[in-house]
Amino acid sequence: MYRTHNCGELRKENIDQNVTLCGWVQLKRDKGGMIWIDLRDRYGITQLAIEETKSSEKIIEIVNKIGREFVIQVVGKVIERYSKNEKILTGDVELEVANIKILSESEIPPFTIIDNSDGGDELRMKYRYLDIRRNPVKNALIIRHKIAQEVRKYLSNNDFIEVETPCLVKSTPEGARDFVVPSRMNQGEFYALPQSPQQYKQLLMIAGMDRYFQIVKCFRDEDLRADRQPEFTQIDCEMSFVEQNDILEMFEGFIKFLFKSVKNIDFVEKFPRISYKDAMEKYGNDKPDIRFGMIINNLSDTVKGHNFSVFDNAEYIGGICLENASEYSRKQIDELTEFIKTPQIGAQGLVYCKYNQDGTLKSSIDKFFDENSLQEIAKLMNAKKGDLMLILAGNKKRTLHGLSELRLKLANELGLRPKDTFAPLWVVEFPLLEWDEETNRYYAMHHPFTAPFEEDIPLFDTNAGEIRANAYDMVINGVEVGGGSLRIFDRELQAQMFKNLGFTKEETERQFGFLMNAFKFGAPPHGGIAFGFDRLCSLFGGADSIRDYIAFPKNNSGRDTMSESPSELSDMQLNELGLIVKK
Ligand code: AMO
Repeated sequence: MYRTHNCGELRKENIDQNVTLCGWVQLKRDKGGMIWIDLRDRYGITQLAIEETKSSEKIIEIVNKIGREFVIQVVGKVIERYSKNEKILTGDVELEVANIKILSESEIPPFTIIDNSDGGDELRMKYRYLDIRRNPVKNALIIRHKIAQEVRKYLSNNDFIEVETPCLVKSTPEGARDFVVPSRMNQGEFYALPQSPQQYKQLLMIAGMDRYFQIVKCFRDEDLRADRQPEFTQIDCEMSFVEQNDILEMFEGFIKFLFKSVKNIDFVEKFPRISYKDAMEKYGNDKPDIRFGMIINNLSDTVKGHNFSVFDNAEYIGGICLENASEYSRKQIDELTEFIKTPQIGAQGLVYCKYNQDGTLKSSIDKFFDENSLQEIAKLMNAKKGDLMLILAGNKKRTLHGLSELRLKLANELGLRPKDTFAPLWVVEFPLLEWDEETNRYYAMHHPFTAPFEEDIPLFDTNAGEIRANAYDMVINGVEVGGGSLRIFDRELQAQMFKNLGFTKEETERQFGFLMNAFKFGAPPHGGIAFGFDRLCSLFGGADSIRDYIAFPKNNSGRDTMSESPSELSDMQLNELGLIVKK
């Protein structure tokens, strides 16, 4: 037997027992005559005590050899500690070592394995197995495991069946690029890795499974950010014979259950539901953080006609109001102006208007707006004495984006986005289609299987951009944690959808024939949702990046620096696959 107890287990009750422990050497302290070792495993740390005069030469020889991260086995008696350590669960006791054995030696690790490690991000990723020995990473993985257990509990209790779907699939267009896998047995042909199991879960509904879920890896070849990985995990769900509200209620219950079981937070009230249109108008984006105000005010109809060309020529003018900020300095306002001029935002300039404590107004557009006109703006924006109004003008889409970014930046700086306060909501009534200026065609805003509002179907032939979709996103604290829709289950309507997306009949048949065929054999009305599991975990854990909750994540260039992948193939492999690499 390697061990009788783990390193987090021994307490006062174990005093005088003879035990065997195994673990990694966290720290060795030699105090002349006494040597102490902190022995660590997943469960905790236990202090080992070696008294030189009482120990054999062999034991001292082994102890002298031992360094950080050696894996050792120790046998000894549990004794009461002279000076207790309240910081660790085993802090009342220590192990008086009678025997010690090195199971595996360790080189000096490239960074210190402690909570606040001296290792930079890159180094820790290269040696991720050492990084995982650290408490913050280890605990993140344990939380992830617990959340997965709770997910399975809720869904299983609600009659959802976990079904695995294939990883080598035909490409599903979900908006991102596919990762592809060449087929050796069918040379010149490729599988795609699933961007999501979308079509399979719909086929499972046609197959009569009624309620499906899967905690499943998805793969998308897209640019990476803090909340995006090329392979990530979804909690993917689908239900039959449901209307939109049935799905929203089931999964509102799901999120409430997770908050209660993971964070002990009760959400009693119903989650707000806000339309895509309102989200865009009030917050400038479709995943609003509603924990704080600073709602966008549309000033387009009221501030034109003052000979200020920036306003007069703008498609849209909007502003946000920052409370108790009329004392912002020139420098602070300049910094905000620089921010909104950065290429990601691309605004031309920032107009400010201070509502001073004495009731006077001071703005960067005093030349064009007299005191009365400024008062009118202040009224429109519900500004009070002491507030600072910030106004952007230009193209509507870009200006709303700029105001949204400005709002989030200010809230971050003012500490209005605490990690332990949560504000979930549903965003509903998304447009079905989105026009792309570059390629001059419509794209499905969610995916092409999303059902339109029935009353909007006639708009397919006249004003397709106005069709609303039976689609919804779950948003928490400005993060899109999940999204889904009711699906089209009628072959003709699905064909119409592909036509509007610019697919020919042949392309539709080639790419989606198997799903379209299945619709011929009795398809139930169905719909579903998928949650980003990594995003949910990092949100619950208060992390800035989903990487903290993934055991072996990729870096921002999509590389695994530990295994050094992706990597080149040998000529033999290329030959077998019938591939030639263009250098
Ligand atoms: P969608 O594309 O919205 O929907 O994805 C569902 C959820 O998955 C998460 N997510 C990601 N997480 C990490 N890295 C990524 N690259 C990434 N991309 C998406 C988000 C998102 O809300 N088949 C549909 C679902 C459905 O209609 O039922 C789908 O995949 O949290």
